Amino acid sequence: MTATPDALVFDAFGTLFDVHSVTRLAESLFPGRGGALSQAWRTKQLEYTWLRSLMGRYDDFRRVTADALDWSLESLRLDASREQRTALERAYRELEAFPEVRGALERLARGRTLAILSNGHPEMLDAVVDHNDLRAWFGERVLSVHDAGVFKPDPRTYALAAAGLERPVAAIGFVSSNGWDAAGAKSFGYAAWWVNRGGAPVERLGSPPDAVVADLAELATRLG
Ligand code: LAC
Repeated sequence: MTATPDALVFDAFGTLFDVHSVTRLAESLFPGRGGALSQAWRTKQLEYTWLRSLMGRYDDFRRVTADALDWSLESLRLDASREQRTALERAYRELEAFPEVRGALERLARGRTLAILSNGHPEMLDAVVDHNDLRAWFGERVLSVHDAGVFKPDPRTYALAAAGLERPVAAIGFVSSNGWDAAGAKSFGYAAWWVNRGGAPVERLGSPPDAVVADLAELATRLG
């Protein structure tokens, strides 16, 4: 692990953007069920990325997210109208950044190049980055696995960051709140910081993170 990588690559959903910020809308549409819908939606969305990759199939993350929403609504026996589904899908393009993100990025950007590497389709990523006014930190360095046609944690996805930033693997640090994603990045060869927002145990996947932080503010303090 390089002590001070000169480029930091961030996961998007769950790391910069709170996937459960859809709960408010879900709760207003289905009172008492918003939290359950948000949890089921995210869990199924990730399962569908892994399962498609194992089947050697790829559909972009907009489709995967819509399919996971459909499954979750049906599993919870929530009868959603077309308009309600559309509103929920739209909410994914307007997820809220976690409160410390802006301040942390400002500190982390000093002397470093920042980028995003996400499962998200480029159009989803551009929308959520611009919605939260984070473009200044990332510029065009918003990378999507769409270019690899497979989802994380396939090594071909992580390779996109080194290629896109034109840097050696050793010069890149990867930051994710998804423990399995941090494990995938570490397995590929990047230094990995796990943002353990939920106080979860370390994934037993054979490639533990180099360091664990509670949030991005702590990461900024640790990296100086
Ligand atoms: C992403 C998934 C892991 O943003 O949430 O790539």
